Amino acid sequence: MNKQGFVSLVGAGPGDAELMTVKAVRLLQHADVVVYDRLVSADILNLIPKGISRISVGKEVGKHCVPQAQINEIIVNLAKAGRKIVRLKGGDPYMFGRGGEEVLALKEHDIAFEVVPGITAASGCSSYSGIPLTHRGMSRRVQFITGHFNDNEPLDLNWQSIADPDSTLVIYMGLSNLPLAVHSLIDAGLPASTPAAAVQNGTTELQQRVITTLDQLNDAIHQKRMKAPVMIIIGEVVSLADELDWFQQSLENKRLEDSYEQNALNR
Ligand SMILES: C[S@@+](CC[C@H](N)C(=O)[O-])C[C@H]1O[C@@H](n2cnc3c(N)ncnc32)[C@H](O)[C@@H]1O
Repeated sequence: MNKQGFVSLVGAGPGDAELMTVKAVRLLQHADVVVYDRLVSADILNLIPKGISRISVGKEVGKHCVPQAQINEIIVNLAKAGRKIVRLKGGDPYMFGRGGEEVLALKEHDIAFEVVPGITAASGCSSYSGIPLTHRGMSRRVQFITGHFNDNEPLDLNWQSIADPDSTLVIYMGLSNLPLAVHSLIDAGLPASTPAAAVQNGTTELQQRVITTLDQLNDAIHQKRMKAPVMIIIGEVVSLADELDWFQQSLENKRLEDSYEQNALNR
């Protein structure tokens, strides 16, 4: 067993730096090197003290900056060199984060590790957009699915089992295959009028939200020119979004105030 190196696989949460766990912040402050993903926000990177090395291994859907095998190799090599590594991943490492693959690579090389959970984007977007994932009388089940398969393989999911009107459906990486997902859900029996939402850059001051119905979701997203990261939430719970909102409206009021101020300055 290599006693020197140690890897902490740490969830950074969905964006708002204050959603990091106390443990995650402590580990960042004592690391030798932080290896981080594209979805780790600038506010979170600002928590890394000066002098600690940072390595970006950012990945985008369809544009794999650093292939997973190479990320594994980077971490393994740093650990073999005796470094204390924080492998910082957006959201939770074990929710569509390939955290399990990285841990398997560490185990293969007898490298000691720990896994620190983070708030996954589904939870962050749910809270910050006024959409509870469950609600008595509306949703008895939550399904987390990926809308994108590795290497752009066709999205081959069991739509019959997913199209359940008593559940909340949360789609990660859902943008590129959204027309197919919507069509398949309606085809499998989910009413076209089912409330549906998209949340972009959830929990950050850049958050945007659309609230619509399943059949209008794709158009609504295009109209707002939404780009990843976007979380799709489908189900009756979305109908609570305006009533339970505490974040989006204040954000929009602030944006309005800022633009009035800017216009006044330009006059
Ligand atoms: C590769 S998955 C990583 C998920 C991450 N491990 C987690 O637990 O949230 C990336 C997808 O998560 C979702 N996502 C992550 N952060 C988000 C955010 N701040 N707002 C909306 N969606 C987000 C988007 O669907 C994005 O395409």
